Amino acid sequence: MVTSVLVTGGIGYVGSHVAVELIEKGFDVHLVDNFSNSSVQQLDGIRQIISPSKSVSFYEANIGDTEKIQKILREQNIKAVIHCAGDKSVAESVLMPLKYYDNNVGSSISLFKAMESCGVSILIFSSSATVYGIPKGIAISEQAQTAPVNPYGKTKLTIENILNDLCRSGSKWKTMNLRYFNPAGAHVSGLIGDRFDNHPSNLFPIICQVLTGKRENLSVYGNNYDTADGTGERDYIHICDLAKAHVEALQFLLQSHNSPIPGALNLGIGKSVSVLEVIRAFEDSCNLQIPYKIETQRPGDIGKYFADPRAAQKNLSWTPQKSLKDMCRDTWRWAQNSASTTVDEN
Ligand code: UFG
Repeated sequence: MVTSVLVTGGIGYVGSHVAVELIEKGFDVHLVDNFSNSSVQQLDGIRQIISPSKSVSFYEANIGDTEKIQKILREQNIKAVIHCAGDKSVAESVLMPLKYYDNNVGSSISLFKAMESCGVSILIFSSSATVYGIPKGIAISEQAQTAPVNPYGKTKLTIENILNDLCRSGSKWKTMNLRYFNPAGAHVSGLIGDRFDNHPSNLFPIICQVLTGKRENLSVYGNNYDTADGTGERDYIHICDLAKAHVEALQFLLQSHNSPIPGALNLGIGKSVSVLEVIRAFEDSCNLQIPYKIETQRPGDIGKYFADPRAAQKNLSWTPQKSLKDMCRDTWRWAQNSASTTVDEN
């Protein structure tokens, strides 16, 4: 029997790529999104990517709207939820903590209540490496201390804790917290990707702005870190590899009898690259120059860290396949496609 899955934040950056992978693997996929950080262009993109014989349904709704979510869960006979909805700007979370606690924690509780009342008890949660705060080591395993340093990270850890408590409560819950390092890239079609028209703060969308002429140059935040070339190093993982891990995690939960303990897995590739290496990889992939200026370090930034990804690779029988060049090439394809089809909101 085909398993029906609901993806919250289903037309956002992560949700849309997860949706495509699920549909390709034969799941019956339903998306819910409130357009707070997404556009209908992503939904069109998903529908263009999937084969004509397949379909995906879309609901415009807030996950905090318990009644509406209950209706979708019942009508579509949903068996599992992949929960990607949530606000994700660290800087905004510092300025507007209530918005983050409300939209991330409050709405998640509402979603979990709706699920419980409809007997849906399998959930995969989009968490983040931000739950580790200022890491003590460079290669971070799931056993590392969790001590987030901003409201965004605290909301992620709070939701993880709620899910762990649900699993310990003796009920049927089976959940998995997937801690993303730095998702990057886009679907190879160039039809879906990370939007860059709404004041991005992450490196890849900002590079998209430079490449498409929306920004004059890239500010490189610091060249005096204790790293090979002095610029910050991160563990970038291709968004399609990340999406595939969700499908594997879902299969894992569907087949397991109990919730896995510990219920968290790191999603990264296990090595870091610097900002200058990213710039060079883009320049090679796109045959374009990326003008940049060295600026002072961004407050709150950490020099270098990467995932210890062994637990995810072992438990999910999953290995990331795509390279930094793939991330740059696919981002560039998305940037060109997106720049020619969107209205600039800046
Ligand atoms: N960087 C620049 N210039 C920019 C933007 C970023 O030099 O304009 C640098 C940063 O200093 C850092 C690297 O590029 O060295 C990556 O920065 P991002 O903003 O893309 O990503 P972060 O690692 O800072 O943050 C990301 C997510 C957070 C999450 C965190 C957890 O955006 O939501 O990873 O690992 F919390």
